[in-house]
Formats: sequence, structure tokens, C-alpha cells
Amino acid sequence: MKKILITRRLLRSCEDKAKETFDANFNLNDELYSQQKLIELSKGCDGILSSLTDKLDAVTINKLPDTIKIISNFAVGFGNIDLEAAKSRGIAVTNTPEVLTDATAEIGVLLILGACRRASEGIASAREGGWKWSADYLIGKQLTGTRLGVLGMGRIGQKIAKIAKSLGMIIHYHNRSKLSDDKDQGATYHDTLKGLLSVSDVLSICCPASKETVDMINKETIEYLPKGAVVTNVARGDIVDDEAMIDALERRKIYAVGLDVYKNEPNLNPGYLKHKSAFILPHLGSATKDTRTAMANLAIDNIDEYFSTGNCKNKVN
Ligand code: DGY
Repeated sequence: MKKILITRRLLRSCEDKAKETFDANFNLNDELYSQQKLIELSKGCDGILSSLTDKLDAVTINKLPDTIKIISNFAVGFGNIDLEAAKSRGIAVTNTPEVLTDATAEIGVLLILGACRRASEGIASAREGGWKWSADYLIGKQLTGTRLGVLGMGRIGQKIAKIAKSLGMIIHYHNRSKLSDDKDQGATYHDTLKGLLSVSDVLSICCPASKETVDMINKETIEYLPKGAVVTNVARGDIVDDEAMIDALERRKIYAVGLDVYKNEPNLNPGYLKHKSAFILPHLGSATKDTRTAMANLAIDNIDEYFSTGNCKNKVN
């Protein structure tokens, strides 16, 4: 049996599956391991089942024991892992695509609705009490007829586009290349970021975090958006330059933001908290029982597949 370090707690049925499949080393207190502790605990292990809270940068990966052959990330995103460093040490990195598309797209749509319809302010007022209905009370932006720009039309972006279209939004997208007609569902393709942003009344950031996308939405690119645009992010916090975004909220260049992901999670930039128009969630993208179960089972299967065949369809490096 392969010995696997599982860095965070999984749902009970998934831990049972891991126990049957591996000689599993569980993190019973669900503590956030420091990089040093993770290296120590990996000694004698064949693989690591990591989560997005583990920062597996090049320095950490280079200190992992030679016995580690796979890092199976319990997430579709893998911005927490230095893929090149892993590759040069002969460590395969895998992720959990597809199984979380629907759940994450639901949160993506919730961010759009919450930011456009001023849900944060509405919830606060309803809880405080004493609010008074009037014809112009908490007037927000209606989605019908509004242009949605999807930055990164992968599986999650496509699902958000499909739901948004059913709400009457007009869909535009930017990707490295134009999608086939069945995938783009009639959405308008833009071959540049500038082209997409200039028509995005609402932006939905869905692209993966990578060296190329860090701070892609920054002081300069925010200016391409129409005045009063709404920006939502269901992908990774690293894609947005927070200072530039908070400044844009202050100047009302940006009407509202809807965020589920942040740089330095869980310590989001406090500038967002000052803005009532920030609709913020604590990284709930995949947080449903079915999805988290499917993700963990896939992360386990990825390890199993890799050790039984020498490869894995969800290998990303
Ligand atoms: C992922 O898997 O990358 C999601 O962000 C988890 O919620």
C-alpha cells in the first residue's frame, strides 16, 4: 500500500475511502501545516494529497523527500503549487476538474447577482431593522440586457455564461482561442483582454491563476472597463490587484465587486470591508457536500491511477 500524507481533513466517507486505498496519514486536528511541518510529515511517504491552503512553492518542493512521486491537489486550481519545480523533481501534480464545475458556477452567478443587486447592503439593513421601503431604496443593476464579460471561458466560465444567458445577459468572452460554437453558446469572442473589458458591464473572472494572470486586472486594465462596471471573481485572488480595485471602488469607476477568492486568504485586503458595495464570500466555490465528496474521491483516484498506470488523466505538469 502506498503511504500518503493527507494535509487537511476530508469528509468522513472520503477519509474512509482513503483508508481503504492507502496507508493514509491524516491531519486529525485539521491544522494548517507550516511548510516545514509538511516537509517533515512527508518523510517516508509516496505522495501528498494537498489542498489549496498548502503553499507548495519551489523552496518547499525542493525540500520534499525523494520518495514523493505525486502531489494530488484537492482543487481544480493549482496556483498553490509550483508546477515546474515539481516537474523537475519528477513529481506529478494532479487536480480535480469537472466535478466542481456546477457548484463553482453557482457561486459565480451568486457573486454577479449579489454585487449587482446590492445584497450586502440589503442583508445588513434587513438584519438591522428599521429600513423603510421607497421607490429608490437600494436600487441596483438589473441583469437583463446587461453585457457579461467572461474572462476565461473554461468549464466554469461556460456554465456561468449559460446561466447568465438564461437571465437575459448578453455574453462576451476572452480566451487564448475562440471556442467551437457548441461551447461558446453564441457568445461574442474577443481576442484581447482590452476588447473584452471594454464591453463588460459585469466581468466574471474565471481564468486559472498562473504567472501570466497575476494582477491581470490592475490599475491600467481596470480603465478599459465601462464606468460603473461590476467585477466578480470566482477564480483566484492573485488575478486582481486589490489596491487598484479598491481605489476604483472609491472613485466609483467600479460600481460593485463580488468576490469569493482573495490574495493571502483568509486575510483579505481590509480596503474591501469599507465598501458596502463589496459582496464578499469566504471561498465557497465548491462548498457543497456532493461536490466536496466528488473532489476528494477524485483526488484519491488520481493517486491510485498514477501509481497503477504511471500516468493520470488529470496530471497538470
Ligand atoms: C478550486 O477547486 O480551485 C476551488 O476554488 C475550490 O473551491
